[in-house]
Amino acid sequence: MAIAEQVNPLVEGLERLPVHPTTLAIFGGTGDLAHRKLLPAVYNLAHEGALPERFNLIAIARSDIAHDDYRSMARESISQYSRTPPDEQVLSKLLEQVRYVPGSFDDDSVYARLGEELKQFDDEAGIVFNRVFYLSTAPEFFPLIVSKLGEHGLSDHDDAEVRVVIEKPFGTSLAELRELNPQVLSVFDEKQVFRIDHYLGKETVQNMLAFRFANGLFEPIWNRNYIDYVQITAAEDVGIGRRAGYYDQSGALRDLVQNHMLQLLTLLCMEPPVTFSADDVRDEKVKVLHAIHPPTDETVPNIAVRAQYTAGMAEGKDVPGYLEEEGVPDDSHTETYVALRLEVDNWRWAGVPIYLRTGKRLARKITEIAVQLKPVPHLAFQAEGSVGVQPNQLIMTMQPNEGVSLSLGAKIPGTRMRIRPVNMEFLYGTAFLSQSPEAYERLIMDAMRGDATLFTRDDEVEAQWRICDPILQEWSHEDGPLPTYPAGSAGPEEANRLLSEGQRWRAI
Ligand code: BG6
Repeated sequence: MAIAEQVNPLVEGLERLPVHPTTLAIFGGTGDLAHRKLLPAVYNLAHEGALPERFNLIAIARSDIAHDDYRSMARESISQYSRTPPDEQVLSKLLEQVRYVPGSFDDDSVYARLGEELKQFDDEAGIVFNRVFYLSTAPEFFPLIVSKLGEHGLSDHDDAEVRVVIEKPFGTSLAELRELNPQVLSVFDEKQVFRIDHYLGKETVQNMLAFRFANGLFEPIWNRNYIDYVQITAAEDVGIGRRAGYYDQSGALRDLVQNHMLQLLTLLCMEPPVTFSADDVRDEKVKVLHAIHPPTDETVPNIAVRAQYTAGMAEGKDVPGYLEEEGVPDDSHTETYVALRLEVDNWRWAGVPIYLRTGKRLARKITEIAVQLKPVPHLAFQAEGSVGVQPNQLIMTMQPNEGVSLSLGAKIPGTRMRIRPVNMEFLYGTAFLSQSPEAYERLIMDAMRGDATLFTRDDEVEAQWRICDPILQEWSHEDGPLPTYPAGSAGPEEANRLLSEGQRWRAI
């Protein structure tokens, strides 16, 4: 059968279901995430004509302000952070449907008022809107808000779909996760719950699925027979900014590894799903996480390195070390850098080291996956020809300069046989000439549509915690000084000890 005819009946039409009229209610509507990401994402969806025909937004937060004040704030956020310059007509139409509910999240009257606002939108339009509650608050409020939504009868509706989107971090330890999951699931059904990992909304992260499963070329080599090792890097040049309160409690392992980096690993290592339905994809991802042995007290020192940045240079200027950042305690043991050596112990991957590293204040911002293939088994070239032969490397760059590149050995033009690596490259920017939507645009749409493929399931988050929790436990018993690296560098020397002989970290 021609490829074009091979439509999978199980997934046909799923993606393009029209989105039912929806009211999106954002808890933490005046917070940083709403300001920089969520409101601009909603605006861009409106601008692209992607929002449902009828759409309302309610923000809930502590500041005691009126609807109009919130609309002005939203207008400013959108003007400042939208990826496209705001179109006045689209923006004004969107803001007309925005309302604000002031109050603290433990106050019952907030939920009564929210219920009234939701009903008023329904009554005015003469239809029942679906409801999406977006929890963009500090994580300690998640259980409270969820239980209040339940108590006030807002967690379901006879005539509409009700969904809840929960920001990261979903728990700060395995024990906390094991409390939080049942709390959420005592009010909402798993199908109603959308746990955000914004990396899954990135085009380039989704492209890994396209790349692996829409091309026959890679599957035969995608295993331990051909792949030597993998490096996943999420380096940032920024420091912690004004987030000391959050970051010092969190650290790099909780902030980036437990969620974003393990998600990249699962997409890279998962088996082909039967369909791209939410559960088929997530079943395969969970299997990968289960194949990683949780670290133990004995293994942690051999597979994990943490470090803190000291003063150095970034963006061409002197910057302070982590301990000098505003709001960070002088004796903080919080890591701003982590490197891990993990192994997916299954038929496909056993024995292939998968290295993860992330850090703040590194030399530059780059998120990439480098797949290093094994060297060729025999070099028939004479000595001079062999010198430049390197194992092939496949690099998937998530950001910036999004794209995929494959290094190949090629003959240098001339009368002698000399070889050096050259790159075959695909760059998003030049191949598609269109701007990618922000991750939050895709995720907000999917939550409104009820498609949970790009959200993490309860067992998936738990499996992620099972890998990270023992490392945190072990670190909590160590109180000596942390290894350090100067701001603006490639990270601590200590990370080298995780690598096997002959391996190197890629340059940052
Ligand atoms: C967030 C972390 O989840 O991801 C931040 O809390 C980090 O500390 C950010 O800076 C990185 O996201 P992105 O999309 O800029 O790679």
